[in-house]
Amino acid sequence: MIKGCIFDLDGVIVDTAQHHFQAWRRLARELGTDLTETQNERLKGVSRIESLELILQWGGIELSEAEIKQQTIRKNEWYVDQIKHMDKHEILDGVLPFMESVKAAGCMIALGSASKNAGMVLDILDIRKYFTSIIDGNKTTRSKPDPQVFEMAAAEMGLKPEECIVFEDAEKGIEAAIKGGFKAVGIGKKEVLTEADLVIPNFIGRDLNSILADLNN
Ligand code: BG6
Ligand code: MG
Repeated sequence: MIKGCIFDLDGVIVDTAQHHFQAWRRLARELGTDLTETQNERLKGVSRIESLELILQWGGIELSEAEIKQQTIRKNEWYVDQIKHMDKHEILDGVLPFMESVKAAGCMIALGSASKNAGMVLDILDIRKYFTSIIDGNKTTRSKPDPQVFEMAAAEMGLKPEECIVFEDAEKGIEAAIKGGFKAVGIGKKEVLTEADLVIPNFIGRDLNSILADLNN
């Protein structure tokens, strides 16, 4: 029986994935390389440092540890500059009614995000109140596809993985959920999120019951 829903943040609740992409591409170009949309798919759900390491690897660029740290600080400043002007309109369509349906069904809600900016985003959007548990990149020590972030969220809710559904837009996030024994619902395209138990394009017109029915089919 499902007793909890764990949501990724970027690209699931709010349209921040595009801001991460723009900031990474700006940095990649300044470093003399580039970042394609296909490559960007592989950065979704990945921590800040690991994302830059991948971009450098793809571009054949070598930087010292100190330079890597410095460049991630620049990327984060650009990213934060973008998101601090956000308002509630950037919450993805259908998400809030969906969360209301989760609450109405007596299920708990948790956040399972790799982002160290997650708390700030929740406050800007004024949606902290929905969450029983908030696990973000400041609390975890291992990145998706490791299931740690979802395991911590389930544990804080007092639930087992099989009692929770994870909602994710990243390949790595779906992989993490499956590895951890969670039900995994992909938000996006079936061709990209091939391992998910169910893929939906977005939450528009959805409630928890319709997701449970589709998962059981
Ligand atoms: C994930 C995003 O949620 O958080 C990644 O999908 C991002 O694109 C990662 O790199 C880390 O985010 P932040 O805000 O800590 O740099
Ligand atoms: Mg995401």
